[in-house]
Amino acid sequence: MNTSPKLPSLLLVGGGRMGSALLAGWREQGFSQAVVADPSPEAARLAGPDVTVVPGPDEIPGGFTPAAIVLAVKPQMAAAALPAYARYAGRAVFISIMAGKTIHAIAQLVGCQAAIVRAMPNTPAAVRQGITVAHACNHVTSGQRALADMLLTAAGQVAWVEDEGLLDPVTAISGGGPAYVFLLAELLEQAGLDQGLPPALARQLARQTVIGSAALLAASDEDAAQLRINVTSPGGTTAEALKLLRADDALPKIFRAAIQAATDKSRMLSA
Ligand SMILES: NC(=O)c1ccc[n+]([C@@H]2O[C@H](COP(=O)([O-])OP(=O)(O)OC[C@H]3O[C@@H](n4cnc5c(N)ncnc54)[C@H](OP(=O)(O)O)[C@@H]3O)[C@@H](O)[C@H]2O)c1
Repeated sequence: MNTSPKLPSLLLVGGGRMGSALLAGWREQGFSQAVVADPSPEAARLAGPDVTVVPGPDEIPGGFTPAAIVLAVKPQMAAAALPAYARYAGRAVFISIMAGKTIHAIAQLVGCQAAIVRAMPNTPAAVRQGITVAHACNHVTSGQRALADMLLTAAGQVAWVEDEGLLDPVTAISGGGPAYVFLLAELLEQAGLDQGLPPALARQLARQTVIGSAALLAASDEDAAQLRINVTSPGGTTAEALKLLRADDALPKIFRAAIQAATDKSRMLSA
């Protein structure tokens, strides 16, 4: 039986990958009613007994009064899409997951007194294993913040920051983080092929090693460094590989530089 509290009415603007992942989580939580505004014919698949899909703001039923409006369009669509929703400011909290769109930029589109939460999720949201970091502007009430927390929790864990500027390194670490882990899986698979493993086995080993290691990390009280040490017998094969991977501090250095580059790019896009 679903014992989650009933959620109030929601408006989702943009029912693409991220929007639909969030919607799936809200459905599990048993929200009362949602409207999805998305002009794409693909969005029709989201319709259901509690979900009405409309192509745009003009088709939203007149009596519908959302408590939260989740903005999940591409950042480059914001200027065209958002002003039509300014009419809800004052009653609803806007929750933006648009990368690089600051509270200030969103407020210019939906109203300077609007209650706005800016959040950065990541793609494991699709399997409720995401992590979202959120920042609330000072027009957001404690009730609206609690509602935003509940809605974002549908995609996984949620952390809040008081400093909006932290969303730039957050974007670099957890927003893009799944790409770095998938790159590791790709590189392991390629290295297995180079060592003469059959392609299907190389792929299986790479995938299950990443999946199993993540599950072990999740199940263990030990931190990642200790779990690494646990695999590494002194003088053994893993120690030999790690000696190369960590030689001259090369891997930590390239990682620090990569995260710095992503953080800088996020700052540039937000400016
Ligand atoms: N994917 C990620 O890893 C990730 C992580 C963190 C944050 N985000 C943020 O999440 C947001 C959505 O990303 P996504 O990957 O879900 O993109 P997406 O799959 O392209 O979804 C965006 C959806 O919005 C629709 N749309 C376009 N114009 C619209 C309008 N005027 N009103 C309402 N809907 C409109 C699009 O339709 P069309 O396809 O017809 O244009 C599409 O269905 C982005 O701002 C992104 O920065 C994404």
